[in-house]
Amino acid sequence: MQEITFNWSKGYDLSSHEQRKIARMNTAFRWTWKMSDNDFKFDFTYYFLMYHQMKIIGYVGLHYIIDEFQINTVYVDPLYRRKGFGKKMLKQLIHLSKTKKIRHILLEVRSQNMSANKLYQAVGFNKIACRHNYYHHPKDDAYILEYNVQKEGVINDTDTFH
Ligand SMILES: CC(C)(COP(=O)(O)OP(=O)(O)OC[C@H]1O[C@@H](n2cnc3c(N)ncnc32)[C@H](O)[C@@H]1OP(=O)(O)O)[C@@H](O)C(=O)NCCC(=O)NCCS
Repeated sequence: MQEITFNWSKGYDLSSHEQRKIARMNTAFRWTWKMSDNDFKFDFTYYFLMYHQMKIIGYVGLHYIIDEFQINTVYVDPLYRRKGFGKKMLKQLIHLSKTKKIRHILLEVRSQNMSANKLYQAVGFNKIACRHNYYHHPKDDAYILEYNVQKEGVINDTDTFH
């Protein structure tokens, strides 16, 4: 398999082609196109994209607020799942967060989403809270997970993702 590359970008700096691709994949999270479109416009919306042969094969959508990454979406193309790409992408994002002096990374996940929960646990996220019956269709609890970046200390190298 050819090299996997990563790119970090503000939502509104993505090309319209990339925005359309992401908006299509965001429907997996029940985001409408309008919701994705609105989110691209915020100054604090960033995307961490993973490419193979120029094609987006995964991404993390997040809000970067002061010293915190608030993750909204984590997605790997179905053709690339169960091959370690989700883990690789999150590890690269954690590396990036250290260069930006982020203190912690937060996210919310359905308790029944086994693949996501296993992935987050595998890269070092910890459960810090549970919102009972937070989700509907189907009903589910929300786990709030945290990756404590500060605990590991910051690094000062440049943003290289290759
Ligand atoms: C969750 C998701 C990002 C995982 O991506 P991925 O590239 O398949 O993950 P990886 O291959 O890196 O897997 C990492 C670990 O997660 C666990 N895992 C991932 N998919 C799994 C599955 N279907 N069943 C059980 N465990 C799974 C495993 O422990 C795996 O490690 P292992 O293969 O060494 O056992 C991907 O399934 C996805 O995009 N799902 C749809 C969107 C989603 O649910 N996002 C999360 C919302 S919070």
